[in-house]
Parts: sequence; structure tokens; C-alpha cells
Amino acid sequence: MANRYCSRHIPRPRSRYRVVPPTACVSEFFALVRGSGRDTAGPPACLDGVPPRAGPRDAQGSAHLRQGGPAVRQAGEADGRRPRHLPTAGASGKRRLLQPAFRPSHVAEYTDLVTEEADAVCRAWPDGQDIPVTEAMMALTTRVTSRVLLSDSLDDRTTAEVRDCLTAVVRGLFVRTIVPIDALFRLPTPANRRYRRALSRLHEIIDAAIAERRRGADHDDVLGTLLKAANGDGPTRAITDQEVHDHLITLLLTGVETQALTLAGAFSLLARNPQAERRLHAELDSLLAEGRRPGPEDLPHLVYTRCVVSETLRHSSPGWLFTRVATKETELGGCRLPEGATVLYSPHLLHHDPSSFPEPERFDPDRWLPGQPTAEQRRAMMPFSAGSRKCLGDEFAMVEATLALATIAGRRRLRHLPDRAERKQRPGITMGPRSLVMVCEPRTAGDHVVDNA
Ligand code: HEM
Repeated sequence: MANRYCSRHIPRPRSRYRVVPPTACVSEFFALVRGSGRDTAGPPACLDGVPPRAGPRDAQGSAHLRQGGPAVRQAGEADGRRPRHLPTAGASGKRRLLQPAFRPSHVAEYTDLVTEEADAVCRAWPDGQDIPVTEAMMALTTRVTSRVLLSDSLDDRTTAEVRDCLTAVVRGLFVRTIVPIDALFRLPTPANRRYRRALSRLHEIIDAAIAERRRGADHDDVLGTLLKAANGDGPTRAITDQEVHDHLITLLLTGVETQALTLAGAFSLLARNPQAERRLHAELDSLLAEGRRPGPEDLPHLVYTRCVVSETLRHSSPGWLFTRVATKETELGGCRLPEGATVLYSPHLLHHDPSSFPEPERFDPDRWLPGQPTAEQRRAMMPFSAGSRKCLGDEFAMVEATLALATIAGRRRLRHLPDRAERKQRPGITMGPRSLVMVCEPRTAGDHVVDNA
């Protein structure tokens, strides 16, 4: 019988949450990862345990569920020098410290640097050639994030090193999350050495950037804000030098790959959905005459472009699985959780539940046009998580992706390679087209009309 949940042989889940005792977590992760290998794309929908109507608010809103579990523990230990937890900005006022840099009012200031970098990336693409799209998007988002965090402290070569280190660290983190047996990762295998090398180089680069800034002039960037706080001159208690370092690492780990996969995912989905692509091109051609780069004043008018980003985040959310830990015995969706229970929740499953999003496999940016999404859909849409642990860079991420997409799609069209089957998406800490290669074609204003004829 045809599967109603998903067209790709993924069984419909009985629920969107799975509650597991701490000891079962490892095998749970194994089951999820192994299962996903069998499917053509996306993770397996084998989460159950809590009734389906336990909605996102239940999980995020519970006072007794904190950020935690294997993924968070490993990210916290990504330091490589000493184990400690990921600085959770929600705790102890750190969110108040970092949030202003990513507020909508501040985000407009980043417009120029995003479009400048996006323009440089796509201008370097030779017409008719194969382009490593994911790699290019990683280069773009590493440059943008490092400039937002550190202004121009990193030269081109060091920024490229940061990109490579992040790729290696994110990959290593996932393995360490699903196999939390520390002894295995102390073995001198090539993979372990690669991970350690990438991690310690990342720390060196950040330490050097902080030291250089302390010796030089102030800048109005995230590092500047953190150093003020370290000097006791911020809205929160004074933070330590180690916390300055930790925050920068966290922002790089959370803000670069997610964003690159979102952009690569958007280009891949657009190329498979010519009608959506034409609508996007029509909007860009009418707003950005003669290849003008978008500015902050264009943001409210890039309506369809933003819908493409939202629909990409719904359809192919880079954050597909997260964990929470019950701090005390509590209840979720009518199910009793013992203290210490790990709750896995999956934005991917919420986004692909046909009771919230009819025909969930269909890429349809119209779902997000003003006035279209229902309250249920808004609630079920959580690519940035929700509640007090929601992504700190969500608005920045939306603006960055909208502007980068507008800039690149205004100039170039990306096509899938002929006869190349879509590769399986194997989940990691994030999920998305990790090694997408497409062919680049030039664009001229109005070609969407010709295509339509
Ligand atoms: C499309 C891009 C992005 C997606 C899909 C995304 C998604 C997420 C999600 C789902 C979480 C919560 C994880 C959990 O529940 O455990 C998170 C946390 C976080 N994100 Fe993002 N993110 C994106 C971009 C960014 C950017 C650009 C930044 C900043 C430069 C950023 C900074 C953060 C930080 C600091 C946290 C941790 C918040 C905390 O611990 O309270 N993210 N992100």
C-alpha cells in the first residue's frame, strides 16, 4: 500500500517524539543512522513512544527538559583540550549578550557583506562548467560568518582553513555522538588524527584572532562585544577569556554548515522545480534591474525569495534531530518521563507530517506566502528549534540566505548534472546535500519569460 507519510518508503511514524532511557540512546542513534542508509533520502521515521499530538510546544515548553544528550555533550567536548559543555547561550544571560548582534535591526547592517561575498563566489564560476556547489556555499558562509564575528581579522587563506576545519570537526562530532566510547577516539587512526588536527587548528586560529584584537583597535563586531563583556563592560556579568573563545567556536560550529546546506539545498530543489525557479527569477528580474545587488531596502520585497528559503528549511531542514534531557520526572504529551530520560525530537518528521503539511515531499514555496501558513503549520515549522533554546542566529540566517540566494540566482542558474542520480543523504549532525555538484549557466533578465513560452 502506498505510504501516506512519504513517497520514499519511509514508514509513517507513530509519533514525532521518542523517549529513551539514557542507556538506550546509543542504540537509538545507531538505529536511526542505519535506517536512513536504506532510504533514498531523509532520515527514517521510526520515532515513537509519545502520542503524535505531543506538539512542538510540549517539547520546547517544558520547564523540565534542558538542552542535553549525546550530541550536545560531544559538541561541548569539541574543545579537544578539556571536557566541558557547549556554552548554552540560553543559560546564565549569555543569550542576552550575543542576541543583539543577530537582531533584525542589526542584521540589516550585514546586507552589504553578504551580497559582496555571494557576488564574488558566483562571478568566479565559469559558464557551462561543473561547480562544487556545497563547497562554494561553505566558502561563502564561512567568509560571511567570520566577518560578522571577527571583521577582517582572518585573511583568505586562514578563512579557507577554518572552512576545512569546520567540515572535519562537524563530521567527527557526529561519529563521536553515535559512538560515545571515548577510548575508540584516542586510538591513533587517520580519522581520529584528522579530527584532532582540525580541532586544534580551529582553536589556534580563534586564539590568535582574540590575541591580535586585544593588541589592536576595537571593532564593532561580535568579538568586540565579547571582549567588552570580558572587561566587565557588558549587559551581563563579566565573562572569562575562555568563554569568549567558546562563544566564537559555538557560533562557527552552529552558523556555517547549516547555512551552506540550506543554500545548496535551495539550488538543488529549484533545479528540480522549474516553476518555482521561474517565479524566483521573475521576482529578482523585476526588483533588481541590471543585476543590481540587493540592499536592505529590498528585503521586504524579496517575498518569494524568502518563501523559497523557508520551504527549503521545511523540506530539507539541516537540523534534523535534536535531544533534550529531563532534569526531573515530568510529563510530555501524556507520557511520563523519568529524570535523566533523553528525548529525541526531529524537525524533519514534524515538517514531513502530512497532517501539518499536505504533500510534504512537494517543494512548494507558496506555502509561505503572506497569509498562507496556518497556525498549526507555523507551530510545526521549527528548523531553528523553538523556545528558550531556539537558534540564536535565526533571523540572521533567514536574511543571509535570502540575500545570498537573490544575488546568486540573479546572475547564475544551476542545473543538475545530466544522468547523475541524486545521492543518498546520509545524516550527520546536520543533513543536506553535502557534495552537490551542478552545472552553471549564465542568466539574463527576462529568461524566465522565454522559458515559459
Ligand atoms: C539555516 C541556518 C541555521 C539553522 C537551520 C540553525 C538551526 C539551529 C537549531 C535547530 C538550533 C537549536 C539546537 C537544539 O535544539 O539543540 C540552533 C542553535 C544555535 N544556533 Fe543556529 N541555525 C542556523 C544558523 C545559525 C547562524 C547563522 C548562527 C549565528 C551565526 C546560529 C547560531 C546558533 C547558536 C549560538 C545556537 C545555540 C543556542 C543556545 O544554545 O541557546 N545559527 N541553531
